[in-house]
Amino acid sequence: MGRKKLWRLAELEGFDNLIQFTDQPEQDAFRLRGAWAKGHFKNGNSITLELACGKGDYTVALAEKHPDRNFIGIDMKGPRLWSGCIAAQKLGLTNVAFLRIEILNLPHYFAKDEIDEIWITFPDPFLKNGSFNKRLTATRYLEAYKQVTKEKALIHLKTDSTPLFEFSLRSLRDNRCTVEEKINDVHNDEERHDDLYIKTNYEKKHLADNRIIKYIRFLLAG
Ligand SMILES: C[S@@+](CC[C@H](N)C(=O)[O-])C[C@H]1O[C@@H](n2cnc3c(N)ncnc32)[C@H](O)[C@@H]1O
Repeated sequence: MGRKKLWRLAELEGFDNLIQFTDQPEQDAFRLRGAWAKGHFKNGNSITLELACGKGDYTVALAEKHPDRNFIGIDMKGPRLWSGCIAAQKLGLTNVAFLRIEILNLPHYFAKDEIDEIWITFPDPFLKNGSFNKRLTATRYLEAYKQVTKEKALIHLKTDSTPLFEFSLRSLRDNRCTVEEKINDVHNDEERHDDLYIKTNYEKKHLADNRIIKYIRFLLAG
């Protein structure tokens, strides 16, 4: 690992807007599980997750737009989360936190009904044969989301990957999820809700390469 990444990982230890898996002995119930709003954000507001948040662009932009809601960006890569933590600190945002964990472990960190909404932004498409199970819309991930969300929680997926988009539609159908909205080309379609047009680091790169951005909004099966 390069020196910059090592330095960022060390600095993360002192951030109060970041919680890392290393904060928690595996055998204990996570201290904020079921109590994020009151225990961490010190309010009773709703919680939205951004999964695979990388540098946390969506998390920070959503938090700026919606000060009456709480946002948690989740990724397993510490040096990327460092950028989100710094951006939120510079903007003085108190409704943002970052959590460094494997997304599959969500139920260890959140209680049933604790999450109101989820954004999944440009997740890795995992195109190699045999790695489909790592896609964030594979059955085992949908099951993890179900264990932490409210009934009727909205889940948004943005991707530039056609194989991932098509896989997701099949997986949602197989898992009896309800697709509420599907857009084949976000930036060449009629204007929709505002939050859809926030651009992450990866989205900016994909647009510069003339890639087409796709979107699905869905509900998990009841
Ligand atoms: C292509 S990047 C997208 C980052 C960001 N959403 C953006 O659009 O700029 C995908 C991110 O997903 C994270 N990731 C992939 N699978 C994950 C998992 N199972 N648990 C936690 N993070 C994961 C990677 O670490 C990486 O930062």
